[in-house]
Amino acid sequence: MPKLKKPVYILGPAGEIFNFATCNAGNLGFTIAAADIPAGAGPLPHIHHYTNEWFWTPKGGIEIFHSAQEFPDLKKPATIDANGRTEVYTIDMKSNQIVHGPKFYVHGFVNTTNETAPLTFIWMQDQISPKYPMNDGGIREYFEEVGIKINDLKALPEITDQARKAFVTQGPKYGINQSYYFLQYVNHVSNKVPSKILNLRDDKSLNRIVKAIKDYNQGKSSVACF
Ligand code: CU
Repeated sequence: MPKLKKPVYILGPAGEIFNFATCNAGNLGFTIAAADIPAGAGPLPHIHHYTNEWFWTPKGGIEIFHSAQEFPDLKKPATIDANGRTEVYTIDMKSNQIVHGPKFYVHGFVNTTNETAPLTFIWMQDQISPKYPMNDGGIREYFEEVGIKINDLKALPEITDQARKAFVTQGPKYGINQSYYFLQYVNHVSNKVPSKILNLRDDKSLNRIVKAIKDYNQGKSSVACF
């Protein structure tokens, strides 16, 4: 993680505790979050249009689900009355595993254990993204608008129905289709992951991101993190 002077903590709709940082380095813009996922919790199926995401599970305990089908139209998500619901495939994450979830695919995950599990996310701005204030494809801006700011990690705020609703209704403003309930975008779940999904990688971008974080932590002025 980039070592910020003042860490930013936000509570997500599934009770996730996110520690956020956003970095800019030249044309590279990304948001990274080290998160704690409560037992049994995880985000409902959703689609990103302006960011490409990575999931890193330091300790495993997380099952990711991911579609093979793409939904490139922000106005036509994977609902019955738009593009039809889709099949998702589950990946049982091992410790220290990384999975890439590019824009346009339906994905989400669940903590399959009875303990809190760590998960680190990276969302990198895609070149088709409109400009958001932090140059990160809108993710940090989205969570700052609809998440609940945590001031004291020992006294977590309540997740309100209003916040849960805002996650869905405000999504498209930030290029996100977020479903209200699991079956809204999904008609079938399978554990036979097609190689197409496992072959989704972008190691070049991931290496740029890792280097940017190292450079920032070493005090290089070419990278700004906040
Ligand atoms: Cu996502």
